[in-house]
Amino acid sequence: MNTRISFLLSVFCFTSGILSSDLNLPCKVTDFICIKKFVITTRARLLSGIPELDIEPSDPLFLEEIDGDLPFLKYKFFNTTLTGFNSCVLSNLGVLNNITSLQYDLDCPKLSVKGKYEMNGKLVSLPVEGNGNFEIITGNYFVRVDYILRKYQGKDEKFHLAGENLKLKCVPKGRVKFNFENMFNGQKDLSDAVLKFAHDNWREVTELIQEPIWFACVKSYIVKMNKLLTTIPLEAYIVFN
Ligand SMILES: *[C@@H]1O[C@H](CO)[C@@H](O)[C@H](O)[C@H]1NC(C)=O
Ligand SMILES: *[C@@H]1O[C@H](CO)[C@@H](O)[C@H](O)[C@H]1NC(C)=O
Repeated sequence: MNTRISFLLSVFCFTSGILSSDLNLPCKVTDFICIKKFVITTRARLLSGIPELDIEPSDPLFLEEIDGDLPFLKYKFFNTTLTGFNSCVLSNLGVLNNITSLQYDLDCPKLSVKGKYEMNGKLVSLPVEGNGNFEIITGNYFVRVDYILRKYQGKDEKFHLAGENLKLKCVPKGRVKFNFENMFNGQKDLSDAVLKFAHDNWREVTELIQEPIWFACVKSYIVKMNKLLTTIPLEAYIVFN
């Protein structure tokens, strides 16, 4: 079978699969309740992964590299595993201006990030350097997610949506624990001092390092969402009149 036909067929089967639930699609652009239900159902499906489209589950989430290029601190996380993302509760969903942007809040009870790190610079006021294994465990975390929905014409000549221009506002609400092994080439007194500082000043330290990690995590979700949306034309879920 030629690949275009098999692509269209699998798209058709898949699309009819995701759309044949009780969603009652397409939603009218003015029917917010319908749109909200579509967003939430689709999100749940994306988070648990869609093997037919090679979309991996989001919890645990594997990120090959996170690049923290901050003014006074450079860090890289390698082979990072983030767990807890699927327990984040979504609220305050807004779909603005004729489906051109989308925003929502996430309340995450607990996240764990672990992998290998490299770090050099200043952690607020203390110099740090090191590389080795690390783990960060958060308490409750609030994140406001906001992105543009761009309309484009797909291979099927129909219009599709894609999320881009991600903006985040991240607020750590509960105590965060840090464990960075092998700081200062394993000099225990120096690394104990930094870890104590990080625990005493968890909010400030978390605010300093949080954005690259959150961006990597939410971006990876949006990449998956965009992959899914290439298979579903806009007209299948929204009508404008
Ligand atoms: C990340 O994992 C890959 C594959 O297992 C490995 O080749 C690579 O060396 C790892 N990176 C680090 C910095 O440990
Ligand atoms: C909303 O978007 C649709 C689809 O692109 C377009 O046809 C319509 O004119 C837009 N309406 C407004 C008020 O911008």
